[in-house]
Amino acid sequence: MKRLSAVQQRRILKFMESLARNVGDKIQKKAGRRKQISFKGEVDLVTQFDREAQRLILHGLKMNYPDFGILSEEDIDQHTDRPVKWIVDPLDGTTNFAHGLPIWALSIALEVDGSIALGVVYDPNRNEMFSGMHKYGARLNGKRISVSLTRRLDQSLLVTGFPYDIRRSKVNNLIQFNAFAVRARAVRRLGSAALDLCYTACGRFDGYWEMKLSPWDQAAGSLILREAGGRITNFSGRDFDIYGNEVLGTNRRIHRQMMRVLREIVG
Ligand code: IPD
Ligand code: CA
Ligand code: CA
Repeated sequence: MKRLSAVQQRRILKFMESLARNVGDKIQKKAGRRKQISFKGEVDLVTQFDREAQRLILHGLKMNYPDFGILSEEDIDQHTDRPVKWIVDPLDGTTNFAHGLPIWALSIALEVDGSIALGVVYDPNRNEMFSGMHKYGARLNGKRISVSLTRRLDQSLLVTGFPYDIRRSKVNNLIQFNAFAVRARAVRRLGSAALDLCYTACGRFDGYWEMKLSPWDQAAGSLILREAGGRITNFSGRDFDIYGNEVLGTNRRIHRQMMRVLREIVG
């Protein structure tokens, strides 16, 4: 990350944490209110609070870093050809949020020359701030975190998610879910990809896989997982790409075992 020094990056990371906390806490205070739900697809919904969170985050980003590009979930794609850009999911876990289930988070990442340099994922319901800086590790509320030590898939707790086209597409993760359900200790579906990645980073889960995510779902979380010592690739072990179609993120130790299961399904 030659474009920004470590000192500059640390300063930006502090700013990202305080912005995520301010906006997240504001949204959390309103979480009990009636939500206006509109649909982006058959099951893909959005509330007025996703938009409010985005508006507040974008305001903070633009005020402080007017030269950076911004890619944010609710139709914001501004100057994304710039070498330094924000990638924002103002509210990850919208379905949970809309139902009053307190499992959702805000995710802000900074991409520099094509790789993620900084990331924060803030869960206001648990007051948990996950953060990562490329080459400088990952933290939860300021303390270093690392992945679990589990070595065997049959002793692993896994997490996954299902794509929004689950009703229409056969590539919908149901076969993979069945395969892992009988091979792992258990499989969970939390409903927030950003938290799935961070929970794998701090050892609450041993492995995570999902398909058809968007860059904002995984930009910050993927950096945090990698910086916590995890391994993150596509299903066949090739380089992970936040703009790609598959994510397999693990504690490293069970990565090949998970790849083997995923390969059996493809083959
Ligand atoms: C969703 C969540 C969910 C994942 C979906 C995502 P949203 O993001 O991360 O866990 O399974 O595919 O789109 O819509 O709540 O921001
Ligand atoms: Ca999301
Ligand atoms: Ca979202």
